[in-house]
Amino acid sequence: MTSAPSPVGRVNFLRAFFQHRKTIGAVVPTSQRVSRRMARWAGVESAQAVAEFGPGTGVITHHLLNALPPTGRLWGFEVYRPFVDYLEESISDPRFTVLDESAESISTVRATAPEAADGFDAIVSSIPFSLIGLEQSRTILREAARSLRRGGSFVALQYHPKFLAPLLSEQFEVVEREFHLFHLPPVFLLRARNPRLAE
Ligand SMILES: C[S@@+](CC[C@H](N)C(=O)[O-])C[C@H]1O[C@@H](n2cnc3c(N)ncnc32)[C@H](O)[C@@H]1O
Repeated sequence: MTSAPSPVGRVNFLRAFFQHRKTIGAVVPTSQRVSRRMARWAGVESAQAVAEFGPGTGVITHHLLNALPPTGRLWGFEVYRPFVDYLEESISDPRFTVLDESAESISTVRATAPEAADGFDAIVSSIPFSLIGLEQSRTILREAARSLRRGGSFVALQYHPKFLAPLLSEQFEVVEREFHLFHLPPVFLLRARNPRLAE
Protein backbone atom coordinates (compact mmCIF):
# COMPACT_ATOMS: atom_id res chain seq x y z
CA MET A 1 0.00 0.00 0.00
CA THR A 2 1.25 3.50 -0.77
CA SER A 3 0.48 6.22 1.73
CA ALA A 4 -1.45 9.48 1.42
CA PRO A 5 0.38 12.77 0.78
CA SER A 6 2.07 14.45 3.72
CA PRO A 7 0.92 17.76 5.27
CA VAL A 8 3.77 19.41 3.33
CA GLY A 9 1.90 18.50 0.15
CA ARG A 10 -1.20 20.24 1.44
CA VAL A 11 0.68 23.45 2.31
CA ASN A 12 2.24 23.53 -1.16
CA PHE A 13 -1.19 22.97 -2.69
CA LEU A 14 -2.72 26.04 -1.06
CA ARG A 15 0.25 28.23 -2.02
CA ALA A 16 0.09 26.92 -5.59
CA PHE A 17 -3.60 27.83 -5.78
CA PHE A 18 -2.98 31.43 -4.78
CA GLN A 19 -0.15 31.75 -7.32
CA HIS A 20 -1.83 29.95 -10.27
CA ARG A 21 -5.58 29.84 -9.67
CA LYS A 22 -6.65 28.88 -13.20
CA THR A 23 -4.17 26.01 -13.44
CA ILE A 24 -4.59 24.56 -9.95
CA GLY A 25 -8.34 25.18 -9.71
CA ALA A 26 -8.94 24.07 -6.09
CA VAL A 27 -7.80 25.23 -2.65
CA VAL A 28 -7.47 21.76 -1.15
CA PRO A 29 -6.63 18.32 -2.55
CA THR A 30 -9.43 15.90 -3.43
CA SER A 31 -10.71 13.81 -0.49
CA GLN A 32 -9.53 10.24 0.09
CA ARG A 33 -13.08 8.98 -0.41
CA VAL A 34 -13.63 10.64 -3.80
CA SER A 35 -10.09 9.67 -4.92
CA ARG A 36 -10.84 6.02 -4.09
CA ARG A 37 -14.16 6.25 -5.95
CA MET A 38 -12.40 7.61 -9.06
CA ALA A 39 -9.97 4.70 -9.11
CA ARG A 40 -12.80 2.23 -8.74
CA TRP A 41 -15.13 3.89 -11.30
CA ALA A 42 -12.29 3.92 -13.84
CA GLY A 43 -11.76 0.15 -13.36
CA VAL A 44 -8.10 0.55 -12.40
CA GLU A 45 -8.03 -2.77 -10.49
CA SER A 46 -8.05 -4.61 -13.84
CA ALA A 47 -6.05 -2.06 -15.88
CA GLN A 48 -2.54 -2.34 -17.31
CA ALA A 49 -2.01 1.17 -18.75
CA VAL A 50 -3.44 4.15 -16.85
CA ALA A 51 -2.94 7.91 -17.29
CA GLU A 52 -3.63 10.59 -14.72
CA PHE A 53 -4.13 14.22 -15.78
CA GLY A 54 -3.15 16.74 -13.08
CA PRO A 55 -1.89 14.54 -10.21
CA GLY A 56 -1.04 17.61 -8.09
CA THR A 57 0.32 16.43 -4.74
CA GLY A 58 -0.73 12.85 -5.49
CA VAL A 59 -3.87 12.07 -3.49
CA ILE A 60 -5.65 10.38 -6.42
CA THR A 61 -2.32 8.93 -7.61
CA HIS A 62 -1.97 6.93 -4.38
CA HIS A 63 -5.42 5.41 -4.80
CA LEU A 64 -4.69 4.58 -8.45
CA LEU A 65 -1.45 2.84 -7.40
CA ASN A 66 -3.20 0.97 -4.59
CA ALA A 67 -5.76 -0.36 -7.08
CA LEU A 68 -3.40 -1.00 -10.02
CA PRO A 69 -2.25 -4.62 -10.57
CA PRO A 70 1.49 -5.29 -9.94
CA THR A 71 2.15 -5.49 -13.69
CA GLY A 72 0.29 -2.23 -14.48
CA ARG A 73 1.78 1.19 -15.25
CA LEU A 74 0.62 4.70 -14.42
CA TRP A 75 1.73 7.91 -16.17
CA GLY A 76 1.00 11.28 -14.55
CA PHE A 77 0.85 14.47 -16.66
CA GLU A 78 1.44 17.58 -14.54
CA VAL A 79 2.19 21.14 -15.71
CA TYR A 80 3.09 22.72 -12.35
CA ARG A 81 6.81 22.04 -11.86
CA PRO A 82 6.86 22.09 -8.01
CA PHE A 83 4.20 19.33 -8.02
CA VAL A 84 6.27 17.32 -10.53
CA ASP A 85 9.31 17.60 -8.22
CA TYR A 86 7.21 16.69 -5.19
CA LEU A 87 5.78 13.59 -6.88
CA GLU A 88 9.23 12.49 -8.06
CA GLU A 89 10.55 12.82 -4.49
CA SER A 90 7.60 11.29 -2.66
CA ILE A 91 6.54 8.35 -4.87
CA SER A 92 9.11 5.63 -5.48
CA ASP A 93 6.71 3.06 -6.98
CA PRO A 94 8.39 1.72 -10.17
CA ARG A 95 4.96 1.49 -11.87
CA PHE A 96 4.61 5.29 -11.76
CA THR A 97 6.16 7.89 -14.07
CA VAL A 98 5.45 11.60 -13.72
CA LEU A 99 5.86 13.72 -16.83
CA ASP A 100 6.41 17.48 -16.78
CA GLU A 101 3.96 17.85 -19.66
CA SER A 102 0.41 18.92 -20.40
CA ALA A 103 -2.28 16.29 -20.77
CA GLU A 104 -2.40 16.68 -24.59
CA SER A 105 0.90 14.79 -24.81
CA ILE A 106 -0.81 11.54 -23.83
CA SER A 107 -0.62 10.54 -27.51
CA THR A 108 3.21 10.74 -27.35
CA VAL A 109 3.27 8.21 -24.49
CA ARG A 110 0.94 5.95 -26.42
CA ALA A 111 3.30 6.11 -29.38
CA THR A 112 6.46 5.41 -27.36
CA ALA A 113 5.58 3.18 -24.37
CA PRO A 114 5.02 -0.48 -25.35
CA GLU A 115 2.60 -1.00 -22.41
CA ALA A 116 0.30 1.70 -23.82
CA ALA A 117 0.68 0.79 -27.48
CA ASP A 118 -2.87 -0.62 -27.68
CA GLY A 119 -4.29 2.36 -25.80
CA PHE A 120 -4.94 3.22 -22.16
CA ASP A 121 -7.40 1.17 -20.13
CA ALA A 122 -8.27 4.19 -18.01
CA ILE A 123 -7.62 7.93 -17.88
CA VAL A 124 -8.36 9.80 -14.64
CA SER A 125 -8.43 13.60 -14.65
CA SER A 126 -8.75 16.38 -12.09
CA ILE A 127 -7.74 19.18 -14.48
CA PRO A 128 -9.93 22.28 -13.94
CA PHE A 129 -11.34 22.23 -17.49
CA SER A 130 -13.75 25.13 -16.92
CA LEU A 131 -10.80 27.38 -15.98
CA ILE A 132 -8.28 26.39 -18.66
CA GLY A 133 -10.79 27.29 -21.40
CA LEU A 134 -12.75 25.76 -24.21
CA GLU A 135 -10.06 25.37 -26.85
CA GLN A 136 -7.49 23.57 -24.68
CA SER A 137 -10.22 21.48 -23.03
CA ARG A 138 -11.41 20.27 -26.46
CA THR A 139 -7.85 19.41 -27.50
CA ILE A 140 -7.18 17.43 -24.31
CA LEU A 141 -10.48 15.54 -24.51
CA ARG A 142 -9.94 14.69 -28.19
CA GLU A 143 -6.46 13.30 -27.40
CA ALA A 144 -7.86 11.39 -24.42
CA ALA A 145 -10.62 9.82 -26.55
CA ARG A 146 -8.08 8.81 -29.21
CA SER A 147 -5.74 7.34 -26.60
CA LEU A 148 -8.25 5.08 -24.82
CA ARG A 149 -8.37 1.37 -25.53
CA ARG A 150 -11.72 -0.02 -26.70
CA GLY A 151 -13.77 -0.53 -23.53
CA GLY A 152 -11.65 1.97 -21.56
CA SER A 153 -13.00 4.73 -19.31
CA PHE A 154 -12.23 8.43 -18.89
CA VAL A 155 -13.14 9.61 -15.38
CA ALA A 156 -12.99 13.32 -14.53
CA LEU A 157 -13.56 15.37 -11.40
CA GLN A 158 -15.16 18.80 -11.84
CA TYR A 159 -16.42 21.53 -9.52
CA HIS A 160 -18.28 23.37 -12.31
CA PRO A 161 -21.73 21.74 -12.71
CA LYS A 162 -22.19 22.14 -16.47
CA PHE A 163 -18.98 22.85 -18.36
CA LEU A 164 -17.58 19.39 -19.02
CA ALA A 165 -20.52 17.10 -19.88
CA PRO A 166 -21.32 18.64 -23.32
CA LEU A 167 -17.64 18.58 -24.28
CA LEU A 168 -17.39 14.93 -23.27
CA SER A 169 -20.49 14.16 -25.36
CA GLU A 170 -18.68 15.54 -28.43
CA GLN A 171 -16.00 12.86 -28.00
CA PHE A 172 -17.78 9.95 -26.28
CA GLU A 173 -21.08 8.11 -26.83
CA VAL A 174 -21.70 7.43 -23.14
CA VAL A 175 -21.35 10.05 -20.38
CA GLU A 176 -22.42 9.34 -16.78
CA ARG A 177 -22.39 11.70 -13.82
CA GLU A 178 -22.26 11.47 -10.02
CA PHE A 179 -22.60 14.27 -7.46
CA HIS A 180 -20.68 14.09 -4.17
CA LEU A 181 -22.44 16.52 -1.85
CA PHE A 182 -20.31 15.80 1.21
CA HIS A 183 -17.03 16.61 -0.49
CA LEU A 184 -15.52 20.02 0.37
CA PRO A 185 -16.50 21.72 -1.89
CA PRO A 186 -19.21 19.47 -3.39
CA VAL A 187 -17.94 17.88 -6.58
CA PHE A 188 -19.10 16.13 -9.75
CA LEU A 189 -17.50 12.99 -11.17
CA LEU A 190 -18.07 12.19 -14.82
CA ARG A 191 -17.32 8.92 -16.57
CA ALA A 192 -17.10 8.82 -20.37
CA ARG A 193 -16.88 5.67 -22.49
CA ASN A 194 -17.11 4.55 -26.11
CA PRO A 195 -15.08 7.23 -27.91
CA ARG A 196 -16.66 8.60 -31.11
CA LEU A 197 -13.72 7.80 -33.31
CA ALA A 198 -12.73 10.62 -35.68
CA GLU A 199 -14.23 10.34 -39.16
C1 LIG B 1 -7.67 20.64 -8.86
S1 LIG B 1 -5.92 20.26 -8.97
C2 LIG B 1 -6.01 18.51 -8.62
C3 LIG B 1 -4.77 17.98 -7.94
C4 LIG B 1 -4.90 16.56 -7.40
N1 LIG B 1 -5.07 15.59 -8.44
C5 LIG B 1 -6.07 16.45 -6.46
O1 LIG B 1 -7.06 15.85 -6.82
O2 LIG B 1 -5.99 16.97 -5.34
C6 LIG B 1 -5.63 20.33 -10.72
C7 LIG B 1 -4.25 19.88 -11.17
O3 LIG B 1 -4.23 19.86 -12.61
C8 LIG B 1 -2.98 20.38 -13.06
N2 LIG B 1 -3.17 20.82 -14.44
C9 LIG B 1 -3.82 21.92 -14.89
N3 LIG B 1 -3.81 21.97 -16.23
C10 LIG B 1 -3.14 20.86 -16.65
C11 LIG B 1 -2.81 20.32 -17.94
N4 LIG B 1 -3.14 20.95 -19.07
N5 LIG B 1 -2.12 19.15 -18.01
C12 LIG B 1 -1.76 18.49 -16.85
N6 LIG B 1 -2.04 18.96 -15.61
C13 LIG B 1 -2.73 20.12 -15.51
C14 LIG B 1 -2.66 21.48 -12.04
O4 LIG B 1 -1.31 21.85 -12.06
C15 LIG B 1 -3.09 20.80 -10.75
O5 LIG B 1 -2.07 20.02 -10.21
